[in-house]
Amino acid sequence: MHWSLSSSTTLLLTTAAIIASANEEADVSSSSSSTSSYLAVESPVWLANIKTPYDNARSLALSEEDIMVRPLDQVKNLHLSNYPSPLKAPPVDDPEVQAVIEQIDWSKVPKAPIRKATVDGELKIEETKENDPYCWWSSSLCSNPKVDYIPEDISYCPQAGDWGLNYDDGPYRVWSEDEDEKQWEEPRLYNFLVEHGKVKSTLFYIGSNVVTFPEAAQRAFSDGHTICSHTWSHPYMTTLTNEQVVSELYWTQKAMKEVVGVTPKCWRPPYGDIDDRVRAIAWLMGMRTILWDRDSNDWGLAAQSISADTVNNYFQDWIDQRVANKDNDHGHIPLQHESSNHTIMLTEKWLPELQKHFNVVSIHQCLGDTSPYWEDGPWNNMNTNDNPASSVDRHISENAPSGENQPSTEQNSGDNNANIEFNDPGNGNSLPNSRIAMGTNNKTLSKDHKKMPGTVSSNASSLLPSSHPNLLLLDSTLLLSTFFAFVLFA
Ligand SMILES: *[C@@H]1O[C@H](CO)[C@@H](O)[C@H](O)[C@H]1NC(C)=O
Ligand SMILES: *[C@@H]1O[C@H](CO)[C@@H](O)[C@H](O)[C@H]1NC(C)=O
Ligand SMILES: *[C@@H]1O[C@H](CO)[C@@H](O)[C@H](O)[C@H]1NC(C)=O
Ligand SMILES: [Zn+2]
Repeated sequence: MHWSLSSSTTLLLTTAAIIASANEEADVSSSSSSTSSYLAVESPVWLANIKTPYDNARSLALSEEDIMVRPLDQVKNLHLSNYPSPLKAPPVDDPEVQAVIEQIDWSKVPKAPIRKATVDGELKIEETKENDPYCWWSSSLCSNPKVDYIPEDISYCPQAGDWGLNYDDGPYRVWSEDEDEKQWEEPRLYNFLVEHGKVKSTLFYIGSNVVTFPEAAQRAFSDGHTICSHTWSHPYMTTLTNEQVVSELYWTQKAMKEVVGVTPKCWRPPYGDIDDRVRAIAWLMGMRTILWDRDSNDWGLAAQSISADTVNNYFQDWIDQRVANKDNDHGHIPLQHESSNHTIMLTEKWLPELQKHFNVVSIHQCLGDTSPYWEDGPWNNMNTNDNPASSVDRHISENAPSGENQPSTEQNSGDNNANIEFNDPGNGNSLPNSRIAMGTNNKTLSKDHKKMPGTVSSNASSLLPSSHPNLLLLDSTLLLSTFFAFVLFA
């Protein structure tokens, strides 16, 4: 499938309010999104020339009866060279990134300040809800943009009783030969989902992980899970420049297009860290923001910053509320991860219970969104209808913490010793080239989500902020001198 670049480029130059839909049979067709008051975005035409080994975007997808428990398939015909170093801020001076930057209508990107990180790599949160001109979620839990041409973030399923199953940070690979550890990596979770009714989920994939574990990404896609972006290197997005934001999103889009053959219309910012500047760039690059309203804090299990009992109590509490008929406003989108043995054990324990009391489906199924990729055509209900999650602000105003309770660096103090675990300290001299071929490089990523400093600031009730533990700012010397284990969550 090749998109016709020239016609859509012309359209884009003519006006931003025209959608060029990528369409498998035909060249790019254009149509106006006049039913929407939101800024229409061009399909990501810059991906037109990306090679994907598939005849059409759905060729990996299996029919329902062919989905079964199985090992991963070998990846065929992928040549994943020329990607930036995994889990490292990707360069912005790359011609491909620059080409995307040129196509974005920057007049539509609010000029929010670039947010600061502390020396510990933690986000510095300076504003409060009362002074939040750019709808900065990390500060105020704002998810409804101040500009009217960008849609509200999606935080929950509209239908009470729906449970929008989803996982962050995959595909999960264990960079170890230890069988005890290895058993937890994909396809374990995906097989478990097959065994439990072939239930579908929405997967927020890290681009770096997609190119280093493409066979798992392909497997998830073939099982009918929906793939969304979760950036290339998992930074606090509001701390990045505009160009860095583009680069994080671009490489991830490219990886997905190349590996599974599709271009997601959805993304989730790491740590939920988004404001109108980042939101607008993502939207202009073809992605709507999806957050959550049920934070399991499961990332903290591997970090040992939360106990299994506490997390189990969250799940029990969510089920109890539903059973007690006290959870009838809308369905939910949990925050869970596929990033460690602990988080996968959590699914193995709770998914069967959730299925007894909720209609467990993917986020896209609960939204009724049947065209999650640009290859399916232009935006549909994701922007032409009222946001299914439009009452989110009400919940925020009910539940938003007061100023004193804002997520703060204090909450994480006392635990700032990042325990970076090195998988392969003996390999210190083999520097990853900044543009290595990663399809075969198996030593650049962490085997697990390790220790993450920070306490847990929210409880099982929804929409409280998740904690804002440190993003480990890896010292470049450290990075260059050894392969590393990196911490990812949210
Ligand atoms: C989970 O993984 C950690 C290492 O990340 C390991 O120490 C622990 O024993 C594992 N637990 C199980 C049950 O495999
Ligand atoms: C890394 O990959 C190479 C070739 O693909 C393989 O020979 C080697 O055993 C792998 N090492 C690890 C630690 O997985
Ligand atoms: C969680 O929040 C609810 C509602 O705000 C509160 O009643 C409950 O005590 C809290 N639980 C914990 C463990 O903090
Ligand atoms: Zn994450």
